[in-house]
Amino acid sequence: MLRNAIFWLSTKKSVTRVIAERGMRYGFARRFIAGESLEDALAASKELNRESRAVSLNHLGENVSTAGQARQVSESYISMLRALDRETLDGNISIKLTQLGLDFDAGLCQAYAREIAADAAAMGRSVEMDMEGAAYTEKTLSIFEAVQREFADTGLAIQAYLHRTADDVERLAPLKPKLRLVKGAYREPPSVAVQKKSQVDENYAKLAATLLDGRFFPAIATHDVAMLDHARAIIRERKIPADKYEFQMIYGIRRDLQAQIRGQGHALRIYVPFGTEWCPYFMRRLSERPANCLFIVRNLVAESFRPHP
Ligand code: FDA
Repeated sequence: MLRNAIFWLSTKKSVTRVIAERGMRYGFARRFIAGESLEDALAASKELNRESRAVSLNHLGENVSTAGQARQVSESYISMLRALDRETLDGNISIKLTQLGLDFDAGLCQAYAREIAADAAAMGRSVEMDMEGAAYTEKTLSIFEAVQREFADTGLAIQAYLHRTADDVERLAPLKPKLRLVKGAYREPPSVAVQKKSQVDENYAKLAATLLDGRFFPAIATHDVAMLDHARAIIRERKIPADKYEFQMIYGIRRDLQAQIRGQGHALRIYVPFGTEWCPYFMRRLSERPANCLFIVRNLVAESFRPHP
């Protein structure tokens, strides 16, 4: 219920405005967001690389509505790749197709995605496509297929809560792609997605076993200890070499588990979000764990007792 309430609040401009105005200034958004600028994200990435964690940079934002905005975003993705290269960081970038015009021109969006993947490949780097709401799944898959056929290192996120995902995995298998398995972060109706955590977890476990069967490069992206244990057991049983898979976690979440995974010798990539459009992303992270709301409330209360600059 609290999750629904947070989703509802995230649509209220008066609420998101207060959070957006204060979050970075008073620091509570920094728990999940590396900062508002690319420099902030690079500084966080350097720190993570020092701890032997690769990164995937994500420039926050969703759903642009003009070709000019899509062009700007695609240029910013390319700048991110070049910055990673210049700083010799171990990292790639994660892109959202609705930031590249998917809502109004799928052809234009595909052309940008291709251009970014080509640029990444020329630097020996890669791109991962995030998966957004279910309205975009099919279009995202088709664009991914076209781009990945040309640039084999391109990855795609797939969502365990969708009924269709097991079929999508079989459809993608001939491409031998990198697939990032996530539970799914959007609110979807029962007609397209399972609703209970136990059902999502059951799907996740089955899909993880499939992705670890040798036909894919799997990225097991979760902070759920039961899912991590399940994947680690399969990796052990099937004696899968450490360079044939990776784990992924989100910046600022379960840093204890991040250290544990690295300590056990598994490859780990941290998804590092940054940018000024951080509010919707931040609200999704809040909705995943009600305890995070207490953290915000504590910060806002502390702030009201602090002298304002
Ligand atoms: P679950 O939600 O069951 O959480 C398990 C445990 O993890 C919790 O008990 C808690 O300890 C910890 N935890 C989880 N979320 C937390 C939070 N916000 N704050 C504090 N602790 C938290 N989704 C999507 O739809 N499309 C995408 O492209 C991506 N991409 C992506 C990349 C990466 C690297 C990750 C790790 C996740 C995504 N996601 C995503 C998000 C994903 O769908 C999901 O919403 C979150 O990962 C939370 O699910 P968990 O698997 O962690 O399990």
